[in-house]
Amino acid sequence: MTKLIYHGHSCVEIKHNKHTIFIDPFIEGNALSDLSADDVKCDFIILTHGHSDHFGNTIEISKSNDATVIATVELADHFEEKGIKSHAMNLGGAYNFPFGRVKLTLAHHSSSRPDGAYGGDPAGVILTLGEKNVYHAGDTALFYDMKLIGEMCRIDYAFLPIGDNFTMGIDDAVKAAEFLNADLIIPIHYNTFDVIKADPNEFKRKIESVGKKCNVLKAGEFIDV
Ligand code: NI
Ligand code: MN
Repeated sequence: MTKLIYHGHSCVEIKHNKHTIFIDPFIEGNALSDLSADDVKCDFIILTHGHSDHFGNTIEISKSNDATVIATVELADHFEEKGIKSHAMNLGGAYNFPFGRVKLTLAHHSSSRPDGAYGGDPAGVILTLGEKNVYHAGDTALFYDMKLIGEMCRIDYAFLPIGDNFTMGIDDAVKAAEFLNADLIIPIHYNTFDVIKADPNEFKRKIESVGKKCNVLKAGEFIDV
């Protein structure tokens, strides 16, 4: 059983067999979230980078669940200092966790913690769950090496930011989907704030015009993998 559940902004929950993994659990303060941080149950959290709209409620959730935070070294060290279990990685590296394999990919962006400290490099994530590969781009600009990501790994599901201003906008995200050769694309990181307003249906039309599938998920909606 594998489910990909969208919770607004860049927050994605993955249920795979007996495991629950949250990517970028920005819940309190996320106007689009369908969750309350107190109700979240998970055993792993993956952080793409340190910005507050991704870091979100990582500390509270990891403490209340005794969950392990998977992140780049600079962020992982910060969690260790706070007594939170963490697993440090860096770009290009992959590791087999009890739920599946996690590989951190490049992301062209920046990263600092909510307290202003340097957060290391921002990352994208490839999760391998059984036979399926799920790519979460994190926050990123379009970059040509997305082609390499798609050549090295068959991307079944891609979560791509479309909100512009801080990340790719719609047209760049369509090009990203082509570079990645992704099968099904789910737009993220839009409409949470005024500066990242974007029409997911315009994105869907443009994705379909290049022969790919797009699923626009509302918070709380999911895909059965
Ligand atoms: Ni960011
Ligand atoms: Mn962001």
